[in-house]
Amino acid sequence: MAESRSGKPNVLFLLPPGWDALSKALFGHDAFNSFLHGKDHYAPAQIDYFVGFRPPHGFLKTLPRLKAIFSLGAGVDGFLRDPEFPRHLPVVRFVDETLQREMAQYVTMHILIVHRGQRGFDAGQRDSAWRQKMLSRPTRDVRVGILGMGDIGAVTAERLLMFDFQVLGWSRSRKDVPGVKSYAGPQELGAFLGQCDFMVCMLPLTPETEGILNAKLLSQLPQGAWLMNVGRGGHGNEPDILAALDSGQLGGAILDVFQTEPLPPDSPFWTHPKVTVTPHIAGITDPRNASAFVVDCVTRAESGAPFKNLVDLGRGY
Ligand code: GLV
Repeated sequence: MAESRSGKPNVLFLLPPGWDALSKALFGHDAFNSFLHGKDHYAPAQIDYFVGFRPPHGFLKTLPRLKAIFSLGAGVDGFLRDPEFPRHLPVVRFVDETLQREMAQYVTMHILIVHRGQRGFDAGQRDSAWRQKMLSRPTRDVRVGILGMGDIGAVTAERLLMFDFQVLGWSRSRKDVPGVKSYAGPQELGAFLGQCDFMVCMLPLTPETEGILNAKLLSQLPQGAWLMNVGRGGHGNEPDILAALDSGQLGGAILDVFQTEPLPPDSPFWTHPKVTVTPHIAGITDPRNASAFVVDCVTRAESGAPFKNLVDLGRGY
């Protein structure tokens, strides 16, 4: 059990279930006292910094001395949706090369599985059947659109280009990523969508992007396009996605995030023949990097140095 010692800042960690492995790397730093919510005894009035991902709504306002919030996830929607979120505090988000690369790996892997028809070969093996099949079209003719060209989108684009896919990106403001055609703002969304054979949602979840994957947007994709959502479940209008799959407007969907997580056992996505479901694992927080992030954040806060990757609360990312 950690004890509060004077002279060092007190850092409270509230880790989501399943993130226990992280706590080992995150703890035991000399520069601060660490408290794990649910395990250690601590006085809420003595907590200086909070580290977590999706704390329960209303939780942060119970920490009156809090000076800053450090998010272990790239997305901070889980914090900002708290109606009682202390908006006067700085929020720093985890921007990490390993996370960017792993997200890029997930996206590339799933696009390659579809593009190369791997599911069909898996089925062939189950039947001991030698069923050769050529690519339905050359890779260089396949267009992948990234909806949300932030730091993760840029690394993903780079990886896809290495495999010869065409890559286009849409974001709020124009982005200059080598080899990627940039579309920006609501007025260019339609032109972007019309060219996506695969459309990958990597947006932050904000009031502007909530429910963006709806019937109207999906109808602007070429018929038979594939949807991948590695952003947030809140981006998806799930009944609209199911309807687009069933009508053939979508050729298939790769979904890592859902409105309700864990995805309820009776969700039609689990058994839908055109859907691949994964349990919000596209980007995994690396324990060592997360630990270095927390140390850096606390050190900066204590020395008065500016934070890196401070969230713009008005913008939501
Ligand atoms: C995970 O979903 C993250 O925001 O990093």
